[in-house]
Amino acid sequence: MAFLEVEQLGMRYGASRVLRNVSFSVEEGELIAILGPSGCGKTTLLNAVSGIAYPSEGKITLSGRDITFLPPEKRRFGVVFQGYALFPNLTVKKNVAYGLGSWDARKRADRVREMLELVGLADVCYRYPSQLSVGQQQRVALARALAPEPHILLLDEPFSALDASIRQQLAEELRRLQHQIGITTIMVTHDQQEAMSMADRIVIMKDGRIAQTGTPLEIYEAPADRFVASFIGRMNFLSFSFMEGREYGIRGEDIVVAEATELMLSQPHTWTAQITDLCYMGAFVRMELLLQDYSTRLWAEMSASAAAKFKKGGIVAVHLPQDKWRSWNGD
Ligand SMILES: Nc1ncnc2c1ncn2[C@@H]1O[C@H](COP(=O)(O)OP(=O)(O)OP(=O)(O)O)[C@@H](O)[C@H]1O
Ligand SMILES: [Mg+2]
Repeated sequence: MAFLEVEQLGMRYGASRVLRNVSFSVEEGELIAILGPSGCGKTTLLNAVSGIAYPSEGKITLSGRDITFLPPEKRRFGVVFQGYALFPNLTVKKNVAYGLGSWDARKRADRVREMLELVGLADVCYRYPSQLSVGQQQRVALARALAPEPHILLLDEPFSALDASIRQQLAEELRRLQHQIGITTIMVTHDQQEAMSMADRIVIMKDGRIAQTGTPLEIYEAPADRFVASFIGRMNFLSFSFMEGREYGIRGEDIVVAEATELMLSQPHTWTAQITDLCYMGAFVRMELLLQDYSTRLWAEMSASAAAKFKKGGIVAVHLPQDKWRSWNGD
């Protein structure tokens, strides 16, 4: 039995079904990312787990106990909402102390200090939210959610208001912190990089259903369908190799681009192609290739040094190693 079990969850808003047959489990200490495009039902699912909204079908259990209709305040879950509203009229310290009303005063003060140190905000504890940067506000929201020693931490797009560099820094910090205190965490995001780099396992959602659940590696290596394949990483779909009702694709980093020598072109699954675009992305280069035999366009990715010998407009050999083809059921 897993720590948290979500079984066959269904949810409606009036006539429209927003969640269908959503089932997954979370082990103690795990960090699970719920990943999916805008509007697919991520917040709705998190609301059902936190108890803010009750499902119309299915069941949620915590350590075997049915909590499907338990009010949120009885679940002891720490929640950081999308937009993480802090109380604007309370100082940082009082925001963090908010959930500790029933605690003994001394214990409460110790806990608040401990949480503020954990997120590195001890020196701004008398400020108000409006006097903090967005990144600092995010840390206050996290400290406030963690203070009452929750069973589970629920985070809805915790970094969405932040710019790229601070976002990555906070993501790494959160991951370290999560390891350090070992708290079971469910994090909602629509950012696949964030999910891949932070999560032990990812639940990918599409239109209110689960498309795939697995470790980042499992999902990257063996996407269950075309949607997952295109949502995680960049997949080149191989329309010319469609056979037996299966679809094929290859990742950009698995495409071999070489000089168009006769030897190279005599290899299986190798074609001449023109480089129609070269984009420097920093550490790597993304190359757009037009296969001359098939008028197929592919995107290859390689290190900047490997790309140095190629120019836009050049003719090259493109090899698609068969052991790197990914396949899934066609639909
Ligand atoms: N209170 C509501 N009443 C009616 N429909 C709603 C309500 N809340 C959400 N929905 C609808 O339910 C669907 C799922 O919404 P939800 O907020 O769960 O998506 P999300 O995956 O969190 O999206 P985002 O990434 O944009 O936050 C959407 O189609 C949305 O319009
Ligand atoms: Mg949402």
